[in-house]
Amino acid sequence: MSHQRDSFVTKFGIVAAVAGSAIGLGNIWKYPYMVGANGGSAFILVYILAVIFFGYPLACSELALGRKLRMNTVDAFHALGKNKFWKFVGFLPLITMLLITSYYVMITGWVAWYFLISIGGQIREVPATTLPADFYKNLFSQMTASIPIVLTTSTVLLILVALVNARGIKKGIETCSKIMMPILFVLIIILIGYSVTLPGFGKACAYMCKPDFTAIKPSVIVAAIGQTFLSLSLAMGILTTYGSYIDKSQDIRSISKQMVIMDTTIAILAGFAIFPAVFTYGLEPGMGPGLIFMSLPQVFLKMAGGALFAPAFFALVLLAAFTSLISLFELLATYLIEKFRISRYMACAWGVAILFFGLLLCTISQRPDSNILVFGSKTVLDIFDYFTNNITLPITGMLICILVGFRWKTENLEKELAIGAKKTASLIEQRTFDILIKWIAPPIIFVLMVVWIYSAS
Ligand code: PHE
Repeated sequence: MSHQRDSFVTKFGIVAAVAGSAIGLGNIWKYPYMVGANGGSAFILVYILAVIFFGYPLACSELALGRKLRMNTVDAFHALGKNKFWKFVGFLPLITMLLITSYYVMITGWVAWYFLISIGGQIREVPATTLPADFYKNLFSQMTASIPIVLTTSTVLLILVALVNARGIKKGIETCSKIMMPILFVLIIILIGYSVTLPGFGKACAYMCKPDFTAIKPSVIVAAIGQTFLSLSLAMGILTTYGSYIDKSQDIRSISKQMVIMDTTIAILAGFAIFPAVFTYGLEPGMGPGLIFMSLPQVFLKMAGGALFAPAFFALVLLAAFTSLISLFELLATYLIEKFRISRYMACAWGVAILFFGLLLCTISQRPDSNILVFGSKTVLDIFDYFTNNITLPITGMLICILVGFRWKTENLEKELAIGAKKTASLIEQRTFDILIKWIAPPIIFVLMVVWIYSAS
């Protein structure tokens, strides 16, 4: 590489950036309703197992791979795999990223809009003649129907993200994550502090913890694995990209551990921040993606201090989504810089242009009267989410394990992980890693995919 690669500087900055990538809409918008839809604590249990057995080893592998090769994801796969097949596989993360970012930026745009109307107070202006439930349903569909609103907020966000990335890894991404992540933690703690005082807290605990083991079906396990990948930003080359900017003096195992713990904690805490209020005011917890846009505002309307709780909540979601978008964007930026040998500014400008198209497609299809509905009533968002969560993420995750385990070899992974490590991993830990990456994760993911495809057809 002819140009000098920028890099992260401090461990705190790296952890903030990777945790910033991991903690996002997946934790606050998606995880709580996935728990609700998939058997409560049974799902949490499967999820935690998936995090330990697939998430953590894969996070270490991706970061180590990036640091070793110091290149963008597409080239990294090709460099290790050394043939056309792996070159093709290298494009999978890029495609997944383009699909996910298209809808991710749109939903973040919705959140930004809700943040603005909760600051401005319009979110509370329910006419006396209308039921709050109807009012919020209307508010949401009016927003999604309004292309100017969604496109403006989402595009402004996309440009802000590009501006952060254009400043580079150290000055842009690291600085921004170091400021935003601590604010996010403070906000969620304040929100939970309030939620524990609500009468619905006990019910929320029961809901989050009530086990229903009959609910553990292959589809639930596939969903939990997909959710693990999405939530930890895995199987998308994000961590390979971030890893390529991490110095040899850093301990990758420790960074991965901290990130995995923070991400899982925030996902579970988000449930505890949201559900007590939902139960206190007798709303339906399993209502799916609309939960934070249609149910929660009704809660904010009724609760004491709701005028403050609402903007704080949407600020939390906005911050979480913003730092995730930065990492998604960086995957594309690094690729464009290295592939076309253009400047970072130029790459970011192209990044905005490319992603704008995906955003436009999602925004138009989300309109209630849209005719870009594929397969009956599904929107582009539904399709992109379903396709990435259930297909491309698990497949790419499995292929990364095979690439690392058999092409790069786990001995080399261990060597890379030992660089910068404060203490060397015990033999048992090394052996477990080896077995997990080579012999457990790939076949399990494969079998689950087959069972899932079979049962879905
Ligand atoms: N991990 C993010 C979340 O939980 C989603 C994401 C995936 C972000 C991949 C960046 C890259 O919302």
